[in-house]
Amino acid sequence: MTTHNPNQHARLWSMLAFVFLFSSSPTSAGEARARADYMVHCQGCHVQDGSGFPGKVPDLRATLPLLISVEGGRAFLVRVPGSSQSALSDAGLAGVLNWMITNLTEGEEITGFTPYQPEEVTRYRATRLDDVFATRDALIGHLEGTDGRTTE
Ligand code: HEC
Repeated sequence: MTTHNPNQHARLWSMLAFVFLFSSSPTSAGEARARADYMVHCQGCHVQDGSGFPGKVPDLRATLPLLISVEGGRAFLVRVPGSSQSALSDAGLAGVLNWMITNLTEGEEITGFTPYQPEEVTRYRATRLDDVFATRDALIGHLEGTDGRTTE
């Protein structure tokens, strides 16, 4: 009988690798990157906390939870000009949208959000959104106080 079972070592190493992968920096590095991308590419219009400019740029704190929860909303968030026409790569845009949904909507109820993957962004981004407002109205326009346009 031996106490040095090579299989045990292999198991221990795979466990350590698992712990390492899920506790080390990639997640926070990705988050820092997404936050920086938001600051550079989006914050000028959407403001640091996502509140935007009343009548001009919608308050993302209110609209993201609504849009992500309706059918077609997931694609819309990628296809709006601010997202799709940004200089970000598909992976970068996926990261920023995930970051926005997680960080700008604190206090709002977002259940069962599956983070965007780069491939999903590529797919949605390939289709041009012809009429942003018509699409937006169809998705959440009937909900009071969510329209990004001026009301006059
Ligand atoms: C030049 C100003 C501007 C910039 C820069 C901008 N946006 Fe926007 N964004 C808007 C406006 C205005 C709307 C409302 C819909 C529209 O007119 O496109 C909007 C809407 C959105 C929406 C949908 C929310 C809603 O309620 O309609 C998302 C998601 C979004 N932007 C993401 C981004 C991301 C991600 C970036 C950065 C990569 C970005 N935007 C950069 C102005 C901007």
